[in-house]
Amino acid sequence: MLKTHNCGELDSASVGEEVTLAGWVNRRRDHGGLIFLDLRDRSGIVQVTFDPDKNEAIYSVAEELRSEWVVKIEGSVSSRPDGTNNPNISSGEIEIHAHKLEVLNKSLNPPFYINEESDVDESLRLEYRYLDLRRDRMYSNILLRHNVVKFIRDFLDDQNFLEIETPILMKSTPEGARDYLVPSRVYPGHFFALPQSPQQLKQLLMIGGIEKYFQIARCFRDEDLRADRQPEFTQLDLEISFVEEADIFELVEELFTNLVSEITPELELAGPFPIMTYEESMDRFGSDKPDLRFSMELTDITNINGLSQMDVFQSVIDENGIIKAIVAPGGSKFSRREITELTEVVRSRGAKGLLTVAIEGDAQTSLSDVKMDDIKSPLSKYLTVGLVKDIAAKVEASVGDMLLIVAGERSIVDESLGELRNFLGDKLEMKDPNKLNFAFITEFPLFQWSKEREQWESTHHPFTSPKLEEMHLLDESPGDMRSRAYDCVLNGYEIASGSIRIHERELQENLLRFIGYSQEEMEGRFGHLLNALSYGAPPHGGIAAGIDRLVAVLAGEPNIREVIPFPKTQTSQDLLTKAPSLVDVQQLQDIGLSINDIVEE
Ligand code: AMO
Repeated sequence: MLKTHNCGELDSASVGEEVTLAGWVNRRRDHGGLIFLDLRDRSGIVQVTFDPDKNEAIYSVAEELRSEWVVKIEGSVSSRPDGTNNPNISSGEIEIHAHKLEVLNKSLNPPFYINEESDVDESLRLEYRYLDLRRDRMYSNILLRHNVVKFIRDFLDDQNFLEIETPILMKSTPEGARDYLVPSRVYPGHFFALPQSPQQLKQLLMIGGIEKYFQIARCFRDEDLRADRQPEFTQLDLEISFVEEADIFELVEELFTNLVSEITPELELAGPFPIMTYEESMDRFGSDKPDLRFSMELTDITNINGLSQMDVFQSVIDENGIIKAIVAPGGSKFSRREITELTEVVRSRGAKGLLTVAIEGDAQTSLSDVKMDDIKSPLSKYLTVGLVKDIAAKVEASVGDMLLIVAGERSIVDESLGELRNFLGDKLEMKDPNKLNFAFITEFPLFQWSKEREQWESTHHPFTSPKLEEMHLLDESPGDMRSRAYDCVLNGYEIASGSIRIHERELQENLLRFIGYSQEEMEGRFGHLLNALSYGAPPHGGIAAGIDRLVAVLAGEPNIREVIPFPKTQTSQDLLTKAPSLVDVQQLQDIGLSINDIVEE
């Protein structure tokens, strides 16, 4: 090695040692005739001093040094003079008195500061990702990611899982997104698809007798991106034979619980993980990925006397609608502008409006002392104190709070209040960044209706087992059928998703036919899996966790790009290498493709 020690490892125990260090110039300061250099490597920072009285030659080289130059330094470790210690760094009690300096490489002036956590435009960070990676924030995220993946590998190895790689060039597996296609040169006009997930392959591994499989698997999906979605991302993918839901939940809970206590013990994990059905989750939280760090549950107030008689609600009730409320603690102080904002939130999810009822007053005041003057609502002339008190008692509101009420079709009421709950969780700072609240959500609907295709489609993927006792609903009311699919959610994110699979050919064909595949299409796309199911496929199930999402939550990062060394932008571009890019005409000819409309870059 060009160095004997790492910068961040030196401390007062090393005083007197001769060391050789190599790294980047983090900062240079000229001070009282001395040059102070903060030398940085992966492990941290150490201060190096150059004294012209001791070594004139290297002092003059040190004068030339600029940020991000790469240098090698030999020197002796000394205690810093009294009063000059830096408690912020591990090497803050010592400094290196340099007696040799070699410039290993120079650097252009970087386009942003590497030595401080200033806000930098993200596109600049992505274009110069190799410089961004030198910054503390990125390095600690990459380190965390390494530790998480290593923990997962060791944990599953201990439990007798085999880590198995599956192909990247393969046939399309539907996960609800568009495929990335790869043209074949050898078979012109034919394409591979990059896997949206290794779903079918892991099922084939179970049929192959592997029993316990896992993979840190790269997945590719051409879909609209959001903060928690990338076109290529990584899953912890796993599959087990002879299991039921409870076995998967037990494994996942143990994995995540142990992972957090080992890798991020500073975070507070709430256990045991609650298990609730999709229906319960929608009813209580208005979401299938509820953030359980705070409560603010949705309460059905349809049956409160006097409410349904109000004109605005009468028509809703007549059409079989419902009325639900949530409570914003301390919300009676919301301004008109804030209330407009809240109304926009519920409207964005299809609600016609939001009824707000502020109960003004001191939080210490008892509800029974509330008077009509304390109640502020656009509908106050239709409200009575008694009615407001009844609602407040039912939703457990206190004086000083605001009741937020939505009426309408059940799914719209739930989803709009769920969105509002999420919004208020942020606004009122109820999402404690140090808490981790996992939960399992079960019994998702088997099918959802696609308006575009005018066809039922699988909610999870078409290999998910229905609840067999509900098969009789297939013809009359498929929308009511529930599946054996489940999600694991964490702090409002869907962190993992899986199901118990169909392991019988007849049932698989039956359901593929139901979601619109002809016999011919079925054979063409899934013939391999259907055949395999005919050869003694064991009952099996599994789950896949988004590694990027998991690490982002553990790192407290709002966006998964922050935990991916080389991510794509929100518009699916790689700003570092400038991909996607045009290719040579010859390359296209080789694979038998021609492009009609070329958009010049
Ligand atoms: P699913 O499609 O739900 O299930 O994906 C599993 C988990 O992968 C993560 N994820 C993503 N992360 C980043 N960017 C994306 N575009 C993205 N899409 C999904 C999420 C999600 O919970 N084969 C099934 C799993 C199974 O049934 O075992 C599957 O892929 O955290």
